[in-house]
Order: sequence, then C-alpha cells, then structure tokens
Amino acid sequence: MLFSKETYVGRREALRRMVGSGLIVLFGNNDSPMNYPANVYKFRQDSSFLYFFGQHRDGLVGVIDADTGRETLIGDEIDIDDIVWYGSVTSVRQMAEECGVEASAPMSRLAELVGEAVRQGRQVHFLPPYRYDTQIQIMDLLGIHPSKQREAASLPLIQAVVKLRSKKSAEEIEELERASLIGYEMHTAAMRLCRPGVTEQYIGGVLDGIAAKLGSIVSFPSIVTMHGEILHGYPSARPLEAGRLMLCDAGAETLEHYCSDHTRTTPVDGRYTPRQRAIYDIVVACHDLALTQARPGVRWWDVHMAVCRLMTDRLKELGLMRGDTEEAVRAGAHALFLPHGLGHMMGMDVHDMEGLGQTNVGYDEETRPSGQFGTASLRFARRLEEGFVVTDEPGIYFIPDLIDLWRSQGTHAEFLNFEEIEKYKDFGGVRIEDDVLITADGCRFLGAKRIPYQAADVEEYPRRQREESPVAAE
Ligand code: GLY
Repeated sequence: MLFSKETYVGRREALRRMVGSGLIVLFGNNDSPMNYPANVYKFRQDSSFLYFFGQHRDGLVGVIDADTGRETLIGDEIDIDDIVWYGSVTSVRQMAEECGVEASAPMSRLAELVGEAVRQGRQVHFLPPYRYDTQIQIMDLLGIHPSKQREAASLPLIQAVVKLRSKKSAEEIEELERASLIGYEMHTAAMRLCRPGVTEQYIGGVLDGIAAKLGSIVSFPSIVTMHGEILHGYPSARPLEAGRLMLCDAGAETLEHYCSDHTRTTPVDGRYTPRQRAIYDIVVACHDLALTQARPGVRWWDVHMAVCRLMTDRLKELGLMRGDTEEAVRAGAHALFLPHGLGHMMGMDVHDMEGLGQTNVGYDEETRPSGQFGTASLRFARRLEEGFVVTDEPGIYFIPDLIDLWRSQGTHAEFLNFEEIEKYKDFGGVRIEDDVLITADGCRFLGAKRIPYQAADVEEYPRRQREESPVAAE
C-alpha cells in the first residue's frame, strides 16, 4: 500500500459521511484475458477501489455499510495451483488489516450482504461499471441489465468520490511528481530519437519500455505520429520524414497508478520551417496564457475561452481567420483548428474519474456542458480549487476531412478563410501539453524537470544531447 492505514481509514470515513446511508459496494478489477483465459493483460486495479482500499490484487470488492460503519473486504483466497504458478500473495484477511478494514470474507458473502440490504429496502450504491465482468457481477447481485447500470449507478456515491478524489493531498502530489519525471524521461528520449528514417513505432516502443521500467505502464496508449491532426494517432511502421512534425503525446503511471500526460511536437529534421514555427508559437502562447490565468476560483471554462480568443486573434494575423474574435469564438469557428478542450483533470486516471461521467467530474450547477462542436469535448470546466491537477494542452490542427466538410457546407465561412486554410492541408498538427497543479494563489507545473517546449529549446535539445553525450543520444 502506498499510504498509511490511517489515510485509507480517513478516506472511507469521509465517503461514508458524505453518502449518508445504504450499502456502498466498490468493485475492484479482475484479471482481463488477452487471447485465452490464462494469458492476461497486465493487471490494473480500479482507481476508486485503490483510492479507498489501497490494495492491488484482482478479485476484491470493498463493502461499506454507511449506516453502521461496518466494513468488509471481500475476496477468495488463492489456491495451491495459483501459488505454484504465480507465487504466494498476502491473504485477504491480512490485506483488510493493512488498510484498516475490520472484516474480510469470501466472495460468496457479497451476495448475502447485498441481498440483505435489498430485502431491507436499503439503497445499494455502486459506481458506473466500465468492465463487462463487473457488469455481470452487478446483474447477478441486483438484477440490473448492463444497459441500465450507468443510470442505476448511485449519484450520491459518484458525487462523494469526485469530491474526495478531485483535491490531491500532499502525498498524492509527490506521487504525481514521480509520474511526471517518468514522463520527462519518455519525452526527452522521443526528442533524441526523432530524426528521418526512425519509425513512429520504434519511438512508441521505446516510450512504452521507459514507462514499464521506471513505473507500471503507460497511462494511455502512446501517441507518436507525423499525422498530428489525428488527435489520437497511434504509431505506425512508417519512417519519420524530413520536413514533417512528430507529435508525441505520452505518459506513464507510477507503480501506484498516479499518472503523467505530456505532449511535445518536434521537427523531424531538427528545425521548424517558418510556417511550422508560426503555428507552433501560437500554441506556445496559448499554453503559457493558461498558466497565467489558472488559480483557485477561476473557471477552467473561462481559461479555455481566453485561449480560444488568443488563438483566433493570432490565426487572424496569419490570414486563416477573420471577423470579430468574440463572435467567432462564440459561434465555435475556432474549433476547426482546436476541436478539443484545453485540458482535463488528472490523477489516478489520466482523464481523472472519466468513468464516473464527464458532467459529474467536470461540470456543476454553475458551469454546464456545451453541445457545440469542440467545446463539447471540454472534459473539465468548473471552478478550480487548490489541489486540483489539470492538463494544459492547446493545439492547432489542420484536418483535411473537416476542412472539406466545413468548406462544402459553408460552416462559419464569415470567420474562416478557406482559400488560405486549404494551403495547410498537408501541415498535420501541433499540441503542447503539461500537467499543472493548482496552488493557493496560482498554479505550477508538476515534475522537477522541464521537457523543453519553447521552439528554440526543442531545436537545441537533441543537438546539445548529441554533443554532450553521444551514446545516450543514440
Ligand atoms: N493525452 C491524451 C488525452 O488526453 O486524450
């Protein structure tokens, strides 16, 4: 376990108070087969289960009776076959003791506890499940079909979990700093390797290896691509080409599953062309603007919109947009270039708590989600608080199919100079992303080491590395 027993006891006590009554059931994850039952993906515990119980084994369920305070850690002990093949593990009873839970029980007890609560007419609280085996468990226990489980999930439980997990404690921040340091190693390796002839896949493989050797796994499938305009463009076997940009969006999870998430966009042959540099510098300005605005009390929605206005102003200077900036942004014209949000919360999930519902995590009564293309993808928008961690990740993309579609439909034609935009269809995309902690009076980057992002530093970094340490730069 990462933290002290008292930390987990305190978190569950707070959860119990917030939910108030009923039976809280928190499902841990099970092993997940790749291609036959015994050949499994690397195990990844559910983040909320980990937050409240701290235990990494598969096949566990935590039960908290919110009325009586009685807690039970449920799971079957492993058998001798498992011990022969995989080694011995801590018993469920011992794991319960470690995290301060008074009772442990085999899996058969779960149906009894839930059945008893249902018979008494008490609410059984569960979070929206995202794995099919958990959905089957819930169907067996409560008779709710998987298609109805998201709506049947407990809103009071979701809201309590979001409230607790949103604000990162000092010890969680230390762990996030560790994740960012792994991110530094991944991204600087990618920058050193970036040159004509090296494949995207090779760089992606190196990144995955660094995440695995210094932490646990990547925090999401690494994005390494010359097609930066594809927001989640996964590495291909194509060699990098001179004159193109390589967009690399990647992060790692620590052994305790705290995440990092950074993006850098590097010129394949070491120098940005004037056209690339002009777009790149706009993204840098947007990235830096967010840092000057993010502080407790400010809505992330407003930071996102300020960035959209700056981007629009600067794209007007390049002749790609026109008209009144406010009106263009209100209409959503900038989303041709920025079809995603400025950032998302980050913690034990790279899109923190996204499984609990974007509206529940990123919005509230004051800040409501938008249905407009682009703004609808802003995953987080409400007021910032000290201890929140968000990503700051503006980008500019030239997506040929989207340009063609909007041009053919005349979408936002009063704000978009399609004649000029056409010329950028071979450009790709630029994104710059850092992980930001909201402090008492502002914000700061996570990670003691800065991955270069100013254009001159990105150009300088691989050259300097090759001079200073030719072997490490290979
Ligand atoms: N960094 C990938 C994403 O946020 O979707």
